[in-house]
Amino acid sequence: MQKNLQKLNLNNLDEFKKIRLEALQNEPQAFGTSLNELKKEKLNKRYQVWYGAYMGGELVGIGSIKYAKAKKFSHIARLSGIYVKKEYRGQGLGRMLFEKRIEEAFSNPKVVKLKLIVNTSQTNAINLYKSCGFEIVGEMKKEFKVGENYYNAYLMELHKKSQGATL
Ligand SMILES: CC(C)(COP(=O)(O)OP(=O)(O)OC[C@H]1O[C@@H](n2cnc3c(N)ncnc32)[C@H](O)[C@@H]1OP(=O)(O)O)[C@@H](O)C(=O)NCCC(=O)NCCS
Repeated sequence: MQKNLQKLNLNNLDEFKKIRLEALQNEPQAFGTSLNELKKEKLNKRYQVWYGAYMGGELVGIGSIKYAKAKKFSHIARLSGIYVKKEYRGQGLGRMLFEKRIEEAFSNPKVVKLKLIVNTSQTNAINLYKSCGFEIVGEMKKEFKVGENYYNAYLMELHKKSQGATL
């Protein structure tokens, strides 16, 4: 089946909401957004861009870049929300989505640093991020609360100069 990647826009809203709902329902510990915040999510925000990975025409993976609104943080972009449907994992879609966002974010001349927050139990995601050059710069205790459970999270960063030849 053919894989491809595209920036999502308002025409993709229904399929986006469907996969995002699946992500938040199936793996709530992996994301900072909760189900009742989903209805506020849009695809035409000025400071956030979503990418979608398609397999044979079906949207099977998503991930976003958030740019900072505040001037003093305009050199930083945050990668968040990466999710690939379970049945499509292990085929390179997560890497495709992640590398594309690194490339896009760093193609903005203002951006010199990428950061992300990841639940310490999401080992597949952490492996992916490390393999793209991200480093753990700190561990935050009780960063996520899902129901009555607390989870720690790593703060990870990638600086433009250390991007090297990985991409
Ligand atoms: C993280 C995630 C997006 C990876 O998607 P994927 O399509 O399976 O990823 P890929 O097939 O492109 O694999 C990319 C890398 O991820 C890591 N990885 C993926 N599956 C893995 C596994 N089962 N065990 C260990 N590492 C794994 C590896 O580093 C892999 O690189 P490699 O194939 O060169 O070893 C997917 O597992 C997912 O949606 N997880 C739940 C959501 C989540 O944790 N999001 C993080 C929010 S911060």
